[in-house]
Amino acid sequence: MVRLTGNKINCSVFISGRGTNLKSIFNYSKEKFSKIDLKLVISDRSNAKGIKFAKKNKLRIRIIDYKNKQKAEKKILNILRENKIELICLAGFMRILSKNFINLYKNKIINIHPSLLPKYKGLNTHERVLQNKEKFSGCSVHFVTEKLDAGKIILQKKVRILLSDNPKKLSKRILIEENKLYPRAIKRILTKI
Ligand code: GRF
Repeated sequence: MVRLTGNKINCSVFISGRGTNLKSIFNYSKEKFSKIDLKLVISDRSNAKGIKFAKKNKLRIRIIDYKNKQKAEKKILNILRENKIELICLAGFMRILSKNFINLYKNKIINIHPSLLPKYKGLNTHERVLQNKEKFSGCSVHFVTEKLDAGKIILQKKVRILLSDNPKKLSKRILIEENKLYPRAIKRILTKI
């Protein structure tokens, strides 16, 4: 579990794209009784849409050149230390963190995934869910471990699949739930100490 060292814990969100979950975490951080201080946004893409949101809201942003993964992670680790980050929230970050990185932040990295884990790990979840004619899908917030999308689940939300669904429609409905679930999951791990 994540340890609270002060009143609030210093949090960093890692993104690669749109940034709707970044926005929901940011909104949570601004709530009166929020337990996080959103100190830093890390992105591996300079043109990620979420960067625009971060800039507009005056968040500290670091763009990481991922040509060399080892160097990229070393740089991120330095930035995390400089900013005294205690909780990392992956939100659409399209890079796989190394074992070494994950071990340095054991139980302090969480991720959101658009399926009811342990089902449908990895990419293209909505397509696979629909192909398999599932009745439900959903989203999960989980701790990050070496094994992809396999760490302990913090919270999940089920979403019913409609006959009229296609991957786009389903992902849109699930995203609405993701944006609500992520702050709830953060609260959950920070109050369970
Ligand atoms: C979400 O669907 C999340 O579950 C997945 O990547 C997407 C990120 O969306 N890991 P956004 O950038 O937060 O809008």
